[in-house]
Amino acid sequence: MKLQNTQAENAFRYSWLLKRAFPFIKPFLFRIFLGVLVAIPVGLLDGVTAFALKPYMDYVIGKHDLIFSLFGHPITISCGTLAAIIPFGVILFAVFQGLMRYLNDYLTDWTSQKITNSIKMKLFACLVQMDSSFFDENSSGIILTRYLSDPDSAAKNFIQQLKSIVTSAFGAGSLIAVMLISSWKLAVVGVLVLGCAFLPMALIRKKIKETSNKGMIVGGNITTNFNETYSGNKVMTAYSLQEHQKNAFNDQIHKSFDISISLTKRAAWMSPIMYSIASIGIACVLYYGTQLILVGEMTAGSFASFVTSLLLLYKPMKTLGSTLTNLQNIFVSFGRVFELFDIKPEIIDRPNAINIKNLTSSIDFENVCFEYEEDRPVLNNINLHINKGETIALVGNSGGGKSTLVNLLPRFYDVKSGSIKFDGTDIRDITLESLRENISIVFQDNFLFTGTIRENIMLGNPEATDEMLDNAIKSAHLEEVIDTLPDGLDTLLGERGTSLSGGQRQRVAIARAMVRQSPIVILDEATSALDNKSEAVVQKALDALMKNKTVFVIAHRLSTIRNADKIAVINEGNLVELGSHDELINIQNGQYKMLYEMQFRKAADKEVGSIA
Ligand SMILES: Nc1ncnc2c1ncn2[C@@H]1O[C@H](COP(=O)(O)OP(=O)(O)OP(=O)(O)O)[C@@H](O)[C@H]1O
Ligand SMILES: [Mg+2]
Repeated sequence: MKLQNTQAENAFRYSWLLKRAFPFIKPFLFRIFLGVLVAIPVGLLDGVTAFALKPYMDYVIGKHDLIFSLFGHPITISCGTLAAIIPFGVILFAVFQGLMRYLNDYLTDWTSQKITNSIKMKLFACLVQMDSSFFDENSSGIILTRYLSDPDSAAKNFIQQLKSIVTSAFGAGSLIAVMLISSWKLAVVGVLVLGCAFLPMALIRKKIKETSNKGMIVGGNITTNFNETYSGNKVMTAYSLQEHQKNAFNDQIHKSFDISISLTKRAAWMSPIMYSIASIGIACVLYYGTQLILVGEMTAGSFASFVTSLLLLYKPMKTLGSTLTNLQNIFVSFGRVFELFDIKPEIIDRPNAINIKNLTSSIDFENVCFEYEEDRPVLNNINLHINKGETIALVGNSGGGKSTLVNLLPRFYDVKSGSIKFDGTDIRDITLESLRENISIVFQDNFLFTGTIRENIMLGNPEATDEMLDNAIKSAHLEEVIDTLPDGLDTLLGERGTSLSGGQRQRVAIARAMVRQSPIVILDEATSALDNKSEAVVQKALDALMKNKTVFVIAHRLSTIRNADKIAVINEGNLVELGSHDELINIQNGQYKMLYEMQFRKAADKEVGSIA
């Protein structure tokens, strides 16, 4: 499943989005509701201020006393008293509003983080379940963008926008109310004209989705660029690829610029148009309002309140408008996030999968065919029978399919046809967990996690006892390494174990495989990269790991191959020869004999030389 190809097709299906988002929002509904509630007075302030202008103008500035009747009693408030009460009231309300604003900020941040986190956690849980092929197909950058940035831009912003919608809606509502109180005729004119100003918003919905999807891909590429520069920094320096990396990065930055500017081009004319329409509205209101005052239908105070409201109305209306644009962006991100939940790994336990114990009799490959990509076969009809306790060495040309073959046993990939049997049971009928518990692997390129050496070894078996750990360290010949390190076993390794040498890293990986104490061992030897001395140490460590185990070893060293019970020669995906060293070496014009003579003669000479 290529993540680039899933592009939020559901971004306009709002009810679908809401249905999928609801489980994440549900636990926090009460707090969200509370947040919305306190956002109301935050929005109302504008209206209150504008409303206060009317009595201020009509009574304080016009020097009239306010006379009204309360429960039949006439009440008089002098204009001097009003001059003190009105500003004081406005201040009081502003303080109250400040408090509510604080509460609102706290609640929206709290809920939005919680929702984002729960989405991220669920997404990560999905991600770690993915097949090897999923990681083959998707770059680290795209995965980061889709699994980390999208939930942020979706959930976090969603609650923020909700807050601004409520604040603006109540702000706008209160202002419109003040306008209606001041003069309903004028209000109708003003609101109609302003309303028209926001119509163009609906037109750019599609463009927003398109831009967001393109932006996601470019953002992913940029992250991948960073990752590759980081992981490949030595290759980059050695081959002077700085310029190349820089250009690739600049390309993406330019692309991202083009994408965002194309949206600006489409969207930015809306603001001036909105302003123009709004100013027409204000002009109409000014003219019509003056007429109303002249014929005595409106006081100057009402008019001042009205015009202030109308001017203040622009801000919440504009916020509402841009919130709609932002919401569309958010829906696109949500659409992409929910698509991720629907990507299911293909390699999962069958409904009736059984748990197995340790290997008791044999592993069998029966007519195994495999391909990574359609119609490009990598393995053809492989048949192998390996008894418990045997060691099988896989040799053959580079790219022939040796690593692929051993990757099928722990089901990193599933066979295309044929089957692999564990004590006679197809491995697809066995639970992944119990199958993988039987296998420990030392890869060609061993990955160590950030953490201490101890933690890295214990990852092989978190329940390993101190004794098992000590034994593994001894057998992997790690003692001498650990003794030289400042914090010994608890020395922190750099990311991916970069602070260790290649041979040391490999021995940590061997110790990790050792504490697992599983009956089957898979070794993808990479000792060709090591010098003679470390090769000898690593070899000893490997020998210790292989002892009393059923072993698949992709072997480059003569000693391993000679000592193997069986040797399988795999060339171009075909099993071309199978037998012991002595059997195969006697086949005239045989592949193994040829390989042996080409590849191992030198090594044999060297080994003899070093013994002599
Ligand atoms: N993840 C992958 N996606 C697509 N093709 C792949 C993948 N991994 C390997 N291949 C292809 O499958 C073929 C077999 O690769 P494999 O790694 O099994 O070879 P190998 O025998 O282990 O080689 P080497 O001795 O160089 O390690 C190669 O042609 C390779 O290009
Ligand atoms: Mg390989």
